[in-house]
Amino acid sequence: MKVKGPARISGSLKVPGDKSISHRVALLASIARGASRITGFASSADCRATVDCIRKLGIVVHEDPVSGLVIHGEGLFGYRPEQSIVHLDAGNSGSTIRMLSGLLAGQRFTSVITGDASLRRRPMARIIEPLGLMGARIEATAANLAPLTIHGRNLQSINYASPVASAQVKTCVLFAGLLAEGSTVVSEPAVSRNHTELMLREFGATVDDSKLGTVSVDGLRELTPLDYRVPGDLSSAAFFIAAASVLPDSSLVLREVNLNPTRTAFVDVLKELGANVITGDDRAQHGELVGDIVVSSARLRSARRGTLLSGAIIPNLIDEVPILAVVATQVEGRVEIRDARELRIKESDRIRTVAEGIRSLGGEIEEFEDGFAINGPQKLRGGRVKTAGDHRIAMAFAIAGLIAEGTTEIIDADCASVSFPEFYDSLAMLAGPDTVYLR
Ligand code: S3P
Repeated sequence: MKVKGPARISGSLKVPGDKSISHRVALLASIARGASRITGFASSADCRATVDCIRKLGIVVHEDPVSGLVIHGEGLFGYRPEQSIVHLDAGNSGSTIRMLSGLLAGQRFTSVITGDASLRRRPMARIIEPLGLMGARIEATAANLAPLTIHGRNLQSINYASPVASAQVKTCVLFAGLLAEGSTVVSEPAVSRNHTELMLREFGATVDDSKLGTVSVDGLRELTPLDYRVPGDLSSAAFFIAAASVLPDSSLVLREVNLNPTRTAFVDVLKELGANVITGDDRAQHGELVGDIVVSSARLRSARRGTLLSGAIIPNLIDEVPILAVVATQVEGRVEIRDARELRIKESDRIRTVAEGIRSLGGEIEEFEDGFAINGPQKLRGGRVKTAGDHRIAMAFAIAGLIAEGTTEIIDADCASVSFPEFYDSLAMLAGPDTVYLR
C-alpha cells in the first residue's frame, strides 16, 4: 500500500464498531440464557476470532447484514463443544485469548487455546496466576506463553490485586468470577477501560464499581440476554482525528463514536495541544457514552516545558500511542511518553516499531525502555515503513504518509484488518483517490 503526501482530508465517516465492546458483548451473550441481538458489531478480524471460538464451543450464532448478530446463549455452563478437548484459535487477538480463558477455566471440559506467532509471544502469566488462585488448572509453555491448555474446574471467588492496569486481565478474572461461588473482587494500580463493568450490569449481573480502581461481581447468577448496539471505535477514529488535526485545510465529522472517559485520553491530549476537536451530543447507550466528533486543522503546540504523558493516563490512551507519536512529529515543542512499558508486549514491540517507523520517514525520536520523546515540528519525507504485522503501526504510518512529502510505502499493510478492515478505503474516500494507492 502506498500513500502520497502532503494531503488534506475532509468528509464524514462512521468508523466500525468498538473492538473492546464487541469482544465483551459476544462473550457475555454466549453465556447468557437466551438470544442476544447485537448491531454494529466490529468488522475486525480480532472480533471474528471471538465469534469463531464461541461457535466452536457449541453456541449458535446467526449473522445477518441488516439485523446483525444473534447469539443464542445457553447459560453460564452451556458451552457444548463437539470434541472432548476443544481447540480454539484466537488469531492475533490478546482480548480473545485472555478474556475467553476466564470463561473456559470454569467449564467442565478441557480447551486448548492458541493464536498466531505474535500472540504466542505475548505474556499469559498475568491470567494464569489469578485463574490458578481461583482453582483453575492451566498448562502453558515453559515461558508461560500460549498455547494454553485449560482444564476446566470448579472455581472459587478471589480478591485479586492485579499488578498491571490491564482491562484484559481484569475482564478475565471477572468473567471467571461469574462461574465461581461468592463475590470476586479485582483491583488495579490505575483504572483501565471499564466496558466490562458497564456491560455486566446491562446483562443483569450484580456489580460494584463504586470504589475507583476496584470492581466486584457476584458469581453463579444467570445473565439475561440483551439487544445491544455497539458504538464506533474511538481507537479507530483516532487515526482520522489525528489526520484532520495535523493536515492543513482538513475537516471531518466522525459519527456515533464511543466516548467512554476511560478511552478518551487521546482526544483530551490533542485538545491540550491546541487541536480543534469537538465531542458533542453525548448520549448514554447501555451505560456507555456515545457521540459525534468534529475535527478540523489546528496549529499544535506543546506547553513551554514540553508535554509529559505518564502514570495513570497511559492505560487510557495505550492503543493510541503509535498515532500520537505521528502527531507529535507535527507539534511545536516536546512530547514525551513514559510509564508505557506495556507497549513493548503489544501486537509488536510498539516502542521499537514506532521509533523505526518515524526514522524511516526521516524523523527523529528518542527511545526509552518505557516510552519515547519527540521534538517537533519535523519535516517527514516518504519512505518504506515496516509494520511488523501490527495493525496500529500500519494505520498510524499511513497517516504519517499523508503528512510526509513524497510517497510512503506501508509493508504488510493488510494487517490493518485486525481491527479496521475498511481503513484504507475510508482513507481514500476522505483524502482522495490520488493519495492512497491500494496496490
Ligand atoms: C483491551 C485492553 C488493552 C488494549 C487492547 C484491548 C481490552 O490491553 O491494549 O487493545 O479490550 O480490554 P491490556 O488489557 O493488555 O492493556
